[in-house]
Amino acid sequence: MPADIRNATASAQRIRTALVVDGLVAEAPNGVRLLDGVSFAVSAGSMLAVAGPTGAGKTSLAAAITGAIPLSSGAVIVGGVDVTRSDSSRRGIGYVPQEDDLHGELTVRQTLDYAAELRLPFSEAGERQACVDRVLAEVRLQPQSGTTVASLSVGQRKRVSIASELISRPEVLVLDEPTSSLDPGYEASVMVTLRRLAERGKCIVVVTHSQQVIAACDQVAMLATGGGLAYFGATSCVHSYFGTSSPAELFSLLDDAPDSIFIPKPPAAVRCLPGSVPIRVARRCGLAQFMTLSRRYARITFADRRRTALFAIQALALGVLLLAFVTPAGLARPQDALGQTIPLSATGMAVLLTTCVTWLGTSNAIREIVKERKILARERRAGLSAHAYVVSKLAVLGPLVAVQAAVVAAISVQRQQVPGAGAVLPVGILELIVAMSLGAICAVTLAMFVSAVVRTADKALAVLPMVVVVEFVLSGLSPSVHVPGLSLLRDLAAARWSVQAIGATVTGSAYDWWQAIGSMAALSALALVGTLLTVHRSLRTRPVRRSRRAVVPAGLKVGARLNPEMLRLSRVAAGGLAGVALVVTGARVLVPEAAAPAPAAAAATAGQGGHPVSLLAESVPGVVGDLFWLLRAGTTVGIDVTAAAYVESVVG
Ligand SMILES: Nc1ncnc2c1ncn2[C@@H]1O[C@H](COP(=O)(O)OP(=O)(O)OP(=O)(O)O)[C@@H](O)[C@H]1O
Ligand SMILES: [Mg+2]
Repeated sequence: MPADIRNATASAQRIRTALVVDGLVAEAPNGVRLLDGVSFAVSAGSMLAVAGPTGAGKTSLAAAITGAIPLSSGAVIVGGVDVTRSDSSRRGIGYVPQEDDLHGELTVRQTLDYAAELRLPFSEAGERQACVDRVLAEVRLQPQSGTTVASLSVGQRKRVSIASELISRPEVLVLDEPTSSLDPGYEASVMVTLRRLAERGKCIVVVTHSQQVIAACDQVAMLATGGGLAYFGATSCVHSYFGTSSPAELFSLLDDAPDSIFIPKPPAAVRCLPGSVPIRVARRCGLAQFMTLSRRYARITFADRRRTALFAIQALALGVLLLAFVTPAGLARPQDALGQTIPLSATGMAVLLTTCVTWLGTSNAIREIVKERKILARERRAGLSAHAYVVSKLAVLGPLVAVQAAVVAAISVQRQQVPGAGAVLPVGILELIVAMSLGAICAVTLAMFVSAVVRTADKALAVLPMVVVVEFVLSGLSPSVHVPGLSLLRDLAAARWSVQAIGATVTGSAYDWWQAIGSMAALSALALVGTLLTVHRSLRTRPVRRSRRAVVPAGLKVGARLNPEMLRLSRVAAGGLAGVALVVTGARVLVPEAAAPAPAAAAATAGQGGHPVSLLAESVPGVVGDLFWLLRAGTTVGIDVTAAAYVESVVG
């Protein structure tokens, strides 16, 4: 194959990773407009700076591109695919938010190892290792690979954050102020790293205030206050465009600018995109993710020795407290009859034991989801299964609190004369331990649900005493509740069943024991499902409300609408147009390796260089319209005829 055609083919492949942002409109939940119809296109292999005054909407734009906030309208198209419609293609976009959201307890290598396990499906351990080594070298963090993230400097943490995204080799990498709080030398080295990535065909979008960063990018998108795009183009032309002489002057101009400064959208046809090969980023299966997440969570939970010691001390202290201060023989089985109501002394002890396990389960779990909210959102965008995540929490916290409950039970009932044989199990104390462990697990699931519902860890802590007190009140201090609503409410309290299970061991009622155990299992399952649904809902990217003119990958649309004969004709028409383009402008025509109609192939051999961005018309008349619009703007034009008739072009 001639070198020209080979180069053109390579460029055509690269074109497909280009990013097109088409008329993004986003609003905050309170109705504040965050983005006002922002449109631009970035070619693969190039770097775009997004700048503008504080509060202009830069972070909102980065979040909208990556799907972190919902859009009111507009589309984000990567490689010809509208990623707002497809989670699997959205995974082709990496997002490094401004605030680092990493587990401080893990070392740099462990962080990247787990990221590789979660993000690289179908990979062998050796491959993952090689990938982590490569990424560590790319961000120059090898010397710190054994350091915990919490001990790193701000700049080093930022690099870990970037490295976590690089693991999955995203086509588009969006970074929100990656160099803020870095010294100029470090800033320059981060930009060198990003440039290296761009040279490998990635599309880099950097939100920044730094003049050095803007200068290091190929293009800049300037946002004005109000969330509109005021400038998009070469970084060197910004001041001449606005007639300003300094960054301070420019930023104050954009801060006070009226909406009329916003650039109108480009003509509709130019916003349409080719239907190229969709980027589908596979994800690991839920079970594999669950295993990885459980291992990671266990490591994080027990990484801190003092915290681990606290788990043990909590249980020992509560056990000893009950042993020392509760009147002995409270759990002795009454002489007269099996199956009678639980004696008052046993109820008191059961309520105390239940309150202890409720406290252990709730306090250990109530912050565990909400504190990782940002990490979860980020990993979710990379393909994390919400189910695997929630169940992994239970897989670690469940056994932990079960052991704590067992320790409390084993110590505290030493003087309580627990019956030798239980109602169901042959050993009474074992039966007690089972019931209390299940009570603690039940408290964990309820606390996880609260943790998924609240928005901040502080709120979770504020709710904690409330949960424990409500469980305490409903646990069995007032056994005869006859008001229907209230008795149902009581039945929904895990503590009520925990008290019944402990009482059943005392009275020897197998029915009561099984009823209590079954109810606790059912309540745990209910709370777990509630947690799953809440986490799933909070992470769901809501679909864009579409205007009637939807942006559809045009190649697919043409292919679907036309019969083969018509498709052939449209290809010929596209080829012909390429010839016209060549004659008029000496434009470069990009032809993929696959067999192409003669006019286009001939055109390709006579082409010249350019940095293409994919654009496409939805129909043959659209192709003509686009072509003339682009030629008038002095752009380089390419045609790819593999999928259907469409024009690929370069802006700027
Ligand atoms: N959830 C929200 N609710 C209400 N207003 C919001 C919300 N998120 C952002 N905003 C508002 O939208 C505007 C844009 O915010 P954004 O964080 O995108 O600005 P920015 O350009 O990144 O600013 P900075 O340079 O300070 O980081 C701000 O006025 C902000 O107060
Ligand atoms: Mg910001």
